[in-house]
Amino acid sequence: MIYNRSYAQVLPFLAILVSPILALQPSAPEPSAAPLRDLKWGQLNFLHTTDTHGWLAGHLQEPSYSADWGDYVSFAIRMREKAEAQGQDLLVIDTGDRVEGNGLYDSSEPKGIYISEILRQQRIDLLSAGNHELYKQNTSEVELLTTVPNFRGNYLASNIDIIHPVTKETVPLAPRFKKFTTEKQNIRIVAFGFLFDFTKNDKNTIVQPVEETIKEDWFQEAIRDKEVDLFLVVGHVPVHSKEYDAIFKEIRTIRWDTPIQFFGGHYHIRDFARYDSKAFGLASGRFMETIGFMSIDGLSTRKQQMKPAWTTPSFHRRYIDNNLYSFHHHTGLDKETFPTEQGLNVSRLIQQSRSTLQLDKAHGCAPRDLWMSRVKYPHDNSIYTWLERQVLPTSLKDESRAGKPALAVVNTGAIRFDIFEGPFTQDSAFIVSPFTSGFRYVRNIPYEKATLIVDILNKQPQILTDAYNRSGTTTTPGLAPPEQSAFFHDRSFDDSHGPDTTNHLTGQAPLLSSGHFKPDLIPGYTTVDDEGSDGDDTIHSPISFYRVPNCIQALISPNISAVPEMVDLVYIDFIESYVALAAKFAGLDIDFMRDSNVYMPTTTLTDLILDWVKDNWSCKGM
Ligand SMILES: *[C@@H]1O[C@H](CO)[C@@H](O)[C@H](O)[C@H]1NC(C)=O
Ligand SMILES: *[C@@H]1O[C@H](CO)[C@@H](O)[C@H](O)[C@H]1NC(C)=O
Ligand SMILES: *[C@@H]1O[C@H](CO)[C@@H](O)[C@H](O)[C@H]1NC(C)=O
Ligand SMILES: *[C@@H]1O[C@H](CO)[C@@H](O)[C@H](O)[C@H]1NC(C)=O
Ligand SMILES: *[C@@H]1O[C@H](CO)[C@@H](O)[C@H](O)[C@H]1NC(C)=O
Repeated sequence: MIYNRSYAQVLPFLAILVSPILALQPSAPEPSAAPLRDLKWGQLNFLHTTDTHGWLAGHLQEPSYSADWGDYVSFAIRMREKAEAQGQDLLVIDTGDRVEGNGLYDSSEPKGIYISEILRQQRIDLLSAGNHELYKQNTSEVELLTTVPNFRGNYLASNIDIIHPVTKETVPLAPRFKKFTTEKQNIRIVAFGFLFDFTKNDKNTIVQPVEETIKEDWFQEAIRDKEVDLFLVVGHVPVHSKEYDAIFKEIRTIRWDTPIQFFGGHYHIRDFARYDSKAFGLASGRFMETIGFMSIDGLSTRKQQMKPAWTTPSFHRRYIDNNLYSFHHHTGLDKETFPTEQGLNVSRLIQQSRSTLQLDKAHGCAPRDLWMSRVKYPHDNSIYTWLERQVLPTSLKDESRAGKPALAVVNTGAIRFDIFEGPFTQDSAFIVSPFTSGFRYVRNIPYEKATLIVDILNKQPQILTDAYNRSGTTTTPGLAPPEQSAFFHDRSFDDSHGPDTTNHLTGQAPLLSSGHFKPDLIPGYTTVDDEGSDGDDTIHSPISFYRVPNCIQALISPNISAVPEMVDLVYIDFIESYVALAAKFAGLDIDFMRDSNVYMPTTTLTDLILDWVKDNWSCKGM
């Protein structure tokens, strides 16, 4: 034990000595050359990240997204140099959910101790909080006491208050808004930082519904300011949402003509919204796969207050694949000229943190790829089929319920990422299942009622949505992965076994049929948004995605050839309120507060998966 610990501390220094000056992480794959669409620069330019969820090391198994936060620091520096040389401005934006979802965040104790220092190395001009920053009391307190001061004055929280851990007073998490003028162009900007109407936060924070915040005096005054060339709304809010519609309408009621730029996220998708000819919104994906680029031209400025009446500002968007091939291309630089000292330092800091956390340690080797939605469900390559047929039946057992059959219900959203053939590392465990939820159960439920509950959870999403629907929001916590909620929230799930289950989930454009197909294209994002299908910087061939159910189920029984009469209904505790509601619809009279108990104390889904991998996936012969 002592030996292990000191070994872990020595490792980072070894790593510095042996590694050449490389950008990206040493184990990351080199990106491949691909046809690219260029950026169009404007008076004002933006780089945007959202929902990074701790993936600051980039994707170590996917070349298209293999740049790390250090490479992004260099990219932002080089882009800023380029903008300033052209007399233009560049702003860097992040819209939250920086935490939870990757070993670099989740595997330290306490969580996130390496992330704060790495994040702050990027000069971020405006940032906001996501829902993941607010699930736990100590996470939001780290935001208040560390992240907000690290980005002094740039962190905005228009609708979030927090109970201060020391004074116990309710205070804004960060300033409500900010007015500033850009350095080169003298563009006068009023900026806000919102979170969608989130309700599952810990009780130490207060999220005011957006629709109420925009009626407050400070907001009303801010939008009545006449000395404004651009309203900038950053937020952890989908760009197509009732919340952003409300903000857009409120500003337009007072300022019919002022340009508005929104940046959003939460759904983990690339998306671009057109509200009117002078108001647009960009969402830049997830997990450090995408650096969003946005430019605006034709804005009024402090120096030149009246633009000729006939000029309408023009807005241009690009979704940049997060890799060095794209970064070199867009900056016009190469391997030698692109890296910066700051960026290389950050890459090294990430490398040291990963090695201290032993994130590359392999627990086993996956014999094949397991996908969340790239194959139909059920399927031999479906991660959900693997979970319900292999992992849950052998791993889920509570000693105090030995011999009692159980029906386990796991929501598909509890899985966050695919498993790739090859080493399943310490990092993989946190990437695939980052949540800390454990299991709970209610005993002695008739088997047919228990399966009916799963049917209800899968077939009747509208019942469940309505029950969560404080004001018709589409951003209620979902059971399925967020990428899927974005596209199916308004559709019925009961055609999920029909013939046309291929869905272009991430807005996949059928490039094949639009005549752009080149045989050597790399599969990847082919985004379709309000401006068309030319937003991605990299021209990819499309990937098909298939719908998955909200929940999967596994029957765990000593005698699998017999249908049990009664079962323990076991579920992930995060979905208890959904299960309770579905139980009511199934005609069961259960008081979950009174009748449910912890199943397998102190065990999470992540633990189950990791233990199963250690037992079953040998690396021999790989
Ligand atoms: C919050 O508390 C939990 C439980 O004590 C701990 O595991 C986690 O690391 C803490 N998180 C942070 C951000 O401090
Ligand atoms: C990079 O790291 C080195 C070594 O720790 C340090 O001396 C240098 O000041 C850092 N450079 C920047 C730009 O942060
Ligand atoms: C859910 O929202 C919709 C749209 O605002 C509304 O019509 C409906 O009544 C709401 N349902 C519930 C149960 O509140
Ligand atoms: C399992 O169930 C089947 C079908 O009811 C029954 O025939 C068999 O005897 C059972 N096996 C055991 C070991 O109980
Ligand atoms: C996984 O390993 C466990 C423990 O060795 C074993 O009982 C189980 O059958 C294995 N599962 C599969 C699918 O091989």
